[in-house]
Amino acid sequence: MISHIEWCKDSLRLLDQRRLPDGIEFMECRTPEATASAIRDMVVRGAPAIGITAAYGVALAAFGPNVSDGEALLAEVKAAAKVLEQARPTAVNLAWAVRRMAAKARQVAKGGASADVLRRALCLEAIAIHEEDIAACRAIGRNGLLLVPEGGRVLTHCNAGALATGGYGTALGVVRAAHEAGRVKMVYADETRPYLQGARLTAWELSQDDIPVTVLCDDMAASLMAKGFVDVVIVGADRIAANGDTANKIGTYGLAVLARHHGIPFLVAAPASTFDMALPTGAGIPIESRAAEEVAVIAGRRVVPGGVAVLHLAFDVTPASLISAIVTERGVISPVTGENVARVLGQAK
Ligand code: MRU
Repeated sequence: MISHIEWCKDSLRLLDQRRLPDGIEFMECRTPEATASAIRDMVVRGAPAIGITAAYGVALAAFGPNVSDGEALLAEVKAAAKVLEQARPTAVNLAWAVRRMAAKARQVAKGGASADVLRRALCLEAIAIHEEDIAACRAIGRNGLLLVPEGGRVLTHCNAGALATGGYGTALGVVRAAHEAGRVKMVYADETRPYLQGARLTAWELSQDDIPVTVLCDDMAASLMAKGFVDVVIVGADRIAANGDTANKIGTYGLAVLARHHGIPFLVAAPASTFDMALPTGAGIPIESRAAEEVAVIAGRRVVPGGVAVLHLAFDVTPASLISAIVTERGVISPVTGENVARVLGQAK
């Protein structure tokens, strides 16, 4: 798998996911502002991936022209954290990573550290966030693989794969581990309008790994389930409340309702950094609303008559009661209740 988020000493190289599958192009970010724009414009997307990217974005603040000493560096970090945290609202991994970076800067600065020492500490912290995420994805894969039945046909939505994380993936981490164990017959990937993360990204990364994948229009899932073609649904998450309510790509909630109707297990796969224990339920999760043009224009052609309103909510919330299990690196939460979330996660992230 291509290295899609790469720290290059004092700059950040991102694979431009908007160009996939036909173009492999990279974008270089040298400032926190450029990094925030890359997140906002979907050069990089997926909850853990934008958290990792934002962490590197904070590290970039340490290389700015105004950084004369430790105090100046701390001020730059504070400003960078503000810009980066606002880039996208729903995935809590973003705020979590930015706050962890800012806390690291404050902790090291307390000892009166020089700008050089602080800079190094920030780079190492961002690299640690990146590496921990890859390890978490591998553990999610191991913890979830037996939830895929032998000969399993898996339906997934959006892209919760290597591209959406530090590497390996959450939902696709379970798929990869189950495939390595010989359990996966087919992955059905919803195309996922309007950004087509399923058609472009999930299909691309699974086919790169020779994992059988079939792309579906989003509106085919019900029919496929009714025909008995789906054994399990596995999706990722952008933010999970303390009671297990889960925000993920728009369309996820509909799939959960369909899965319940057809008696199909509905699994969420996510690392601890995706949980927001400060929110008691999913009602408090901020839902990103994106530009109407992203829905109204397909491949450069406007498909909605001019003057007609378009609603573009990027995420929805699936109630915990519709989720069979949440697979984390710390274990499997099932049944999905507040008590079980707290027990499996522990308090600290
Ligand atoms: O808008 P996106 O592409 O950032 O949305 C991504 C998703 O909804 C993913 O399913 C989620 O972030 C989990 S990624 C492991």
